[in-house]
Amino acid sequence: MRTAIYPGSFDPVTLGHIDVIERASKMVDKLIVAVLNNSSKNSLFSVEERVNMLKEVTSHLDNVEIRHFGGLLIDFARECNAAIIVRGLRAVTDFEYELQMAQTNRIMNRDIDTLFLTTDLKYAYLSSSIVKEVARFGGDISEFVVPMVAEKVKEKYKI
Ligand code: PNS
Repeated sequence: MRTAIYPGSFDPVTLGHIDVIERASKMVDKLIVAVLNNSSKNSLFSVEERVNMLKEVTSHLDNVEIRHFGGLLIDFARECNAAIIVRGLRAVTDFEYELQMAQTNRIMNRDIDTLFLTTDLKYAYLSSSIVKEVARFGGDISEFVVPMVAEKVKEKYKI
């Protein structure tokens, strides 16, 4: 059974993330979307809220499971029996950070490889930070996230 793990902050999940999840889920038997429980980071949504939103937007995908983790990704991947880490690459600006993470993870565990999926061109600019920035100032985020997520972001900013 081929299991992959797609880690991230998902604060909140964007259409770009959903695109990567849909494509990656077709390549493996099981895809675990792993939400970083980053209590130190200033997240808009709690880890439970992020997990619940992800569950809702992936409910049409039978082989996708949503979990959260703290600590090292490589340890969580081992716990999940996942030999593949999936990451989306948007632009060259992502590359340096992603390469560093992938190489560090590989040094720590040579049995786990990182698989990069280039994001769909229509989401190449998109990030959770951009969604929050636009929403914070009352902008329209309907092109960036599903309606349920847009509502929850607006609630957070009391729009
Ligand atoms: O969506 P993000 O914030 O770009 O995701 C980053 C994430 C969660 C993949 C990364 O921060 C991570 O793996 N954190 C867990 C700690 C860890 O294992 N760090 C070592 C890798 S260099």
